[in-house]
Order: sequence, then structure tokens, then C-alpha cells
Amino acid sequence: MPLTLLSSPLQGFTDFRFRNAFNHYFGGIDTFFSPYIRLNGKMVVKPAYERDILPKNNQKITVIPQIMTNSADEFLFVADYVQKLGYKELNWNLGCPYPMVTKRCMGSGLINDAPRIDGILEKVHNESDIVVSMKMRMGFENPQEILQVFPVLDKYPIKNVAIHARIGKQLYKGGVDLESFQTCLDNSNQKIYYNGDITSVASFQEMQQRFPNIDHWMIGRGLIADPFLPNMIKNNSRTYPSNKIEVFTDFHQVIIQEYEASLSGATHILLKMTSFWEYFATLFSNPQKTFKKIKKAKSLKAYQQAVSEIIEQESRLKFR
Ligand SMILES: Cc1cc2nc3c(=O)[nH]c(=O)nc-3n(C[C@H](O)[C@H](O)[C@H](O)COP(=O)(O)O)c2cc1C
Repeated sequence: MPLTLLSSPLQGFTDFRFRNAFNHYFGGIDTFFSPYIRLNGKMVVKPAYERDILPKNNQKITVIPQIMTNSADEFLFVADYVQKLGYKELNWNLGCPYPMVTKRCMGSGLINDAPRIDGILEKVHNESDIVVSMKMRMGFENPQEILQVFPVLDKYPIKNVAIHARIGKQLYKGGVDLESFQTCLDNSNQKIYYNGDITSVASFQEMQQRFPNIDHWMIGRGLIADPFLPNMIKNNSRTYPSNKIEVFTDFHQVIIQEYEASLSGATHILLKMTSFWEYFATLFSNPQKTFKKIKKAKSLKAYQQAVSEIIEQESRLKFR
């Protein structure tokens, strides 16, 4: 069965700069979902969202834009907007777990309101020919909530439903609930994609054995923590390339240059890079020490020095 790997959107991480550099240095991802667009009341797409999905910024990669909303009008506005840019599909985020979002009946806070989901999908399908796909958790309070949504989805030509196998109130704590994910498979006529905690070739292969009918897999944090992972999954290999450290170093240089050019001020750049290193650190022999070193750097010069030392030390240890 052919295997499709998708990059799960990570707001603040998988923007077009990251996506392009990732694709150039590592590859293995077939389609990138861009982080959600949110309108906040006004029918205006903010410039940062626009930049992220402009075709000229995504020339060598396949991207599907995403919206987070609980309003059919907002959905239709963004659908029209992305169609004008040339996109055919808009993905709907029903997964975000944060209280600021869920209290407003958005993200995973909307899953338990099947009639409202129905109303939005009905209007969207009546008034637009955009292809709609979904990205959902299994519920907010409990993993049965999604089961009420499946019959609603069956009324519309939904392209696929990517399921992050957690519930909203878990946030990112606890493990994925694979039994409930199986219940979703048993109770849905939709094309289901799997998402959640794919962090190694071994964990991927375990999931693949457990869900042999799934052929679309979404990787989020695992892709930042180990950018080599998608390609290794594709090649069915647990061996890193022999030039692992050089590839990572070149990739890192590109993204820091991109953020130096696009963010204003050292503080912002350092914040951005530190948040990446919370994940990158796991690629190194001593993740805790590595991340501590990065966090200690309070200027760009100190940061570059820290990165050089980390890479030099790792080369000496011989990359795993
Ligand atoms: C920092 C962060 C930002 C995220 N942003 C989005 C987003 O914009 N849209 C979305 O659908 N999911 C978002 N997610 C959820 C991930 O796409 C993914 O569903 C989740 O992390 C589980 O997959 P993973 O274990 O492979 O990371 C975000 C997660 C994190 C940690």
C-alpha cells in the first residue's frame, strides 16, 4: 500500500520558511498543512497568514491551508480567499485544545456540537465548491464525541478526516488513545488519516501494524524533533545518513538566516530559535544539556557560539 506522509501544522513552527528549508534538506513529506488561519471577527486575512500561503512562497511544496472557525461566513470568506490564490482545498481545524479557543466553541470545543458542525458544512457546501477536509481530535471531554459527528460528515463530500488520537482536555498530556481511534475506524465511512506521537521509525511501524488500513499519516512535533524521520519512514530504514550532522547544520543555518531577515530584533530571533531547540535538542546525545546551553545564550553571537559548540561536541562524539 503506498504510504503518504503529511506534515501536521504547528503554529509558530511550520511556517513557509521552515517548510521550504525542511523540504530542501530532508524531504519525505508529501503534503504540508499550513498552520491555521483565524479571522477574529473581521473579514480580513492578516498579512502573516497571507505570506505563509502565498504560492510564490511555497513553490516547491504541496500545501493545504487550514482555517479555525465556528462561522460559516468566515469559512466561506477564507475559502474564496484561498481559491483565488489557487488552492482547491481548505482544511478545518477541530482539534485545537487551548481554553481560549475551546471556550469560544472552536477547535476541539466544537466537536460536541454536531448540529452546529452540520449547519456550517451545509452552508459551505451550498455556497462554495471548495474541497473540505477535517482535522479533529476525538472530542473535548470524551472520545465518544466524534462518533456523533461522523453521520453529519457523511452528508457532505468531505475529502478526509485527520484524527489526532487525543481529546481536547488532555492538551498534550498522556498518551494517544489508540483503542478509541480504532472505534473511530469501526464507526466511520470517512477516509481517516492518523495523527499523534509518531516520533520514531519504530513507533511508526508499531502504529502501521496496528492500523494496516491507514495509508495517510500525519507527523507534527516528531518532524521538528527529528527532521530525518519522514524520509527514514519512507525508506523503511532506521539508519541516519552518514552526513547527519552536516545536513542538520546547513538546515539550521538556513532557518536562522531566514528568521534573522524576517524577525525584528535579537530577542524575537532568539525566542524563535530557542523554541525550535526544545525539539531539535532531542536529536543530540545529551538533549537536556544541549537545550540548557541554547537557553543560556542571551545574544545572537552567544547563540551562534552555543550552536557551534553543540555541533562540534556532537561531531566528536560521532552522531548517533
Ligand atoms: C506548538 C503547536 C502548534 C500547533 N498548531 C496547530 C495548528 O495550527 N493547526 C492544527 O491543526 N494543529 C496544530 N497543532 C497540533 C499538531 O498539528 C498535531 O495535531 C499534534 O501535535 C499531534 O501530533 P504530533 O504528536 O505528531 O505532534 C499544534 C501543536 C503544537 C504543539
